[in-house]
Amino acid sequence: MDFLARYLALQDALNRYASFWRPAPFHIARPDWCVQYPEWAAQALALDDSEVERLNADNVALIDWAAHRLPALAELQALIELPRLELPGDAEPVSGHLAWAMPGRKQAQVEAFAEAVDTIAKPILEWCGGKGHLGRLLAARAQQPVLSLDYDATLCREGELLAERAQVDQRFVCADALYADTAHHLAGCHAVALHACGDLHLALLHGAVAHHAAAVDLSPCCYYRTADAVYRPLNPEGTLQLSRDELHLPVTDTATAGARDRRLRDRAMAWKLAFVQLREALANVPSTRTFKPVPASWLALGFEPWCRQLAAREGINVPAHYDWLALEAHGWQRQREVMRLSLVRHVFRRPLEVWLALDRALYLERAGYRVRLAEFCGRELTPRNLFISARQG
Ligand SMILES: C[S@@+](CC[C@H](N)C(=O)[O-])C[C@H]1O[C@@H](n2cnc3c(N)ncnc32)[C@H](O)[C@@H]1O
Repeated sequence: MDFLARYLALQDALNRYASFWRPAPFHIARPDWCVQYPEWAAQALALDDSEVERLNADNVALIDWAAHRLPALAELQALIELPRLELPGDAEPVSGHLAWAMPGRKQAQVEAFAEAVDTIAKPILEWCGGKGHLGRLLAARAQQPVLSLDYDATLCREGELLAERAQVDQRFVCADALYADTAHHLAGCHAVALHACGDLHLALLHGAVAHHAAAVDLSPCCYYRTADAVYRPLNPEGTLQLSRDELHLPVTDTATAGARDRRLRDRAMAWKLAFVQLREALANVPSTRTFKPVPASWLALGFEPWCRQLAAREGINVPAHYDWLALEAHGWQRQREVMRLSLVRHVFRRPLEVWLALDRALYLERAGYRVRLAEFCGRELTPRNLFISARQG
């Protein structure tokens, strides 16, 4: 199936099943599908914690589970399937001076990405490269000079020191990727971007096409980090209307989170759901109203002070006495339900992510590039493992 056919098939499925994935159980306790499919809702609510984790960690198993209730959903399986670019057995691991300052999992991601980039025939431009870990490895392996671009001067300086120590041909430029003039750096080069967020990778695509980059290798992430409140597809056939909240859906999987991170994630969700209830009870604010992110460090305060601090920030008056035990218990009850009912929403997480990646791949294809879409590593290394690879001509 070519990119356009798959893009349209996914778009059609996402539109047809919108009632399963648009409403978030965090905001809407019982989405309409629970009324339409009460048995499915009851079965989801009865799952134990380990089943919830297992299904959440495996998109194929998740679609299988859903297809038992609604067989037509099995069609999603083929639509999300992509070739995996395996590491060749003789690949050299990142070692010694090239691995300096790279945390373990980042090192493995950089390695897998570098292996996925095949021939490099032009100078390399690393887009939003941070300390330039990927660029440093490519500079050592590709015999091409590397320019790593980031807007954080401290990261650029640290990257320069690492490049000097590694004795590779890598320079840094401190520039804002969202500033139109920055795109001239892309002219004629081989652009690489590991995990560039929403608008940052869109700026790369537009800049690469406008300035005739010779090649682009990109793994997109954080699709929701955009200035636009509503997503604007890059292709005329794209009709899916996506809010910023919905763009968050593809990146909700935490396949690589450890047990401690999962506990903190669960507590943060339970407390936020308790706060939503408190806000509704005291100020009649509907549960669908979103609030700004809550600093993770506040979790150490304990439940009541956490609630009071958030209420003060949100301008909600809290009485001196409140039944905090009952409120926290309510939050945990809701958290259990949200985790389970969200499984049905998560069935559409990967289809939506692949649709977004196809939107980017098609855009490059239409601009005259030969494009491949694949997975550059397994999702246990990073669930953001999509790889868009484009070559001019
Ligand atoms: C998710 S990190 C990815 C870093 C690196 N590619 C990696 O995978 O390690 C995003 C990087 O984008 C940089 N960044 C954020 N906004 C930027 C902007 N407007 N212009 C340039 N760089 C930006 C950040 O400083 C950060 O280093």
